[in-house]
Formats: sequence, C-alpha cells, structure tokens
Amino acid sequence: MNLSTVKVGVVRLKISRRTFLSIVGSAVGAAAVYSWAETLRIEVTRLKLDLGLKLAFLVDTHIHFFGPVEEQVLKLLYREDPDVILHGGDIIDEYTRGLEPVKEYFSALDAPKKYAVLGNHDHWSNRIPELSAVLRRECGFQLLLNDVVEVSGWRLFGVDWRDDREYPLINDVDIVLAHDPNVSPQVRGARLILAGHTHGGVVVGGITVISNSIYTRGLYPLEDRGILYVSRGLGQILPFRPTSPLELVIIE
Ligand SMILES: [Fe+2]
Ligand SMILES: [Fe+2]
Repeated sequence: MNLSTVKVGVVRLKISRRTFLSIVGSAVGAAAVYSWAETLRIEVTRLKLDLGLKLAFLVDTHIHFFGPVEEQVLKLLYREDPDVILHGGDIIDEYTRGLEPVKEYFSALDAPKKYAVLGNHDHWSNRIPELSAVLRRECGFQLLLNDVVEVSGWRLFGVDWRDDREYPLINDVDIVLAHDPNVSPQVRGARLILAGHTHGGVVVGGITVISNSIYTRGLYPLEDRGILYVSRGLGQILPFRPTSPLELVIIE
C-alpha cells in the first residue's frame, strides 16, 4: 500500500469558549466526585505468606473524626479477627483537632497485640508526647520507634520516620513495619516490609503519574529483602484520592 494514498480524517469541531469551559468544568467536576468517592470505598488486600498468624495492616488513617470509614474498618476487623494489628503511621496530621476520635477508634481496634510506628504527619503535628500516651495508655498500642519486639517467634522491627529519609541499615529481623517505603533499600534479610505514606499515588492505565516514593503501591519483590507491600492506606488529609481507593491489608 502506498502510504501517500492513506487519508486520515480529521474532524474539527467548532465550539464556543463557553462550551469548551463548560466541558472542562464538567470533566474536572466528575473527576473530583470520583476522587471523593474513593475516600469512602475500602478494598481488602490479602497476602498469603504462611506466617502462622494473621496480621492486619493499617496505615495513613489521618484521623480527623470517627466516621463511616472508621466504622467500616472496625466491622471488617471484627470479621477478620487478626492476631496482631499493625499501624504504619500518619495516625493523625496537622488538621487533627483533638485526640478523642483516636481514642474512640483505636481503643476499639481489637486484637491481642497492637503495634504502631509514627509517620511524617504524626511528627509534624507536634503532638507526639500526647499521641504516644493516648496510644499506649488508652488504646493498648505499643509504639515501635526503631525498636524490635518478638511476635509469635517473628522479630518485628518498627522504623521511625526521618525527614531526611536517610535510614540506618536494618539487619536480623523478619518483619519491618515502616511508614516510609524508602526504608526498603536499607533492609537486609527480612521476609516482609510493610509501608504506606504514598496513599497509592496517582496511577493511570498502569502508569504512575504522581508518587512521593520510588515505591508507589502494591507488592514489590526485593532481592534478599523479601517482599515490600505499600498500602494505599485508610485516610487522607484532603478528601480526594484520585485512582486510589482505601485499603486494608490482611497478611497470613
Ligand atoms: Fe499519609
Ligand atoms: Fe506520610
């Protein structure tokens, strides 16, 4: 076929500036409604690792109030009945007014053991002493600030957030609980790394458009570092989650 004979049809639509702006406005509005709807929809992700115990992983709750999402998470966890609840940080943020919703929500999270690390927004809220006391005394959480604990024979290490994102080498542990997935290159020999912070970024057609980490969402097999799972989390600062519904992760 001679390419010069191929005709490409181009349809030119003449529309007024007002119509154009109206179309753009409608598209932006639809995207905003869709992004808002994703702040209410929770997907449960299951990882099968034969750990011999059931872990529930929450992260990025950014608690501002106790609402329908928090109620739904409690119902899901009641059904799952995990042995351990892990929180990967960004429990609150700078827009959290009081810690009453934290008490209501986190004291109702039911599991024999509950551990948490702190995220960047927990630190930036300047309420760490108050938050730590509430988590420990009223909600039954143990904070892991670069500490290790043994859980059913597994060594669990919790990594505290660093603003410079320069983390120390992490050796000789089985499970790493971190806020920042950028911890991963520093981990040696672990079986599982759990992280959040990205809120799943913005991913369109499998292409990452926006992310604040080299790891954006989901499962990453890592050489000699086991696997990294980056959760999209269960909350946000502003009520928009484009392309990124909420996520509760269950690991067994
Ligand atoms: Fe967050
Ligand atoms: Fe964060």
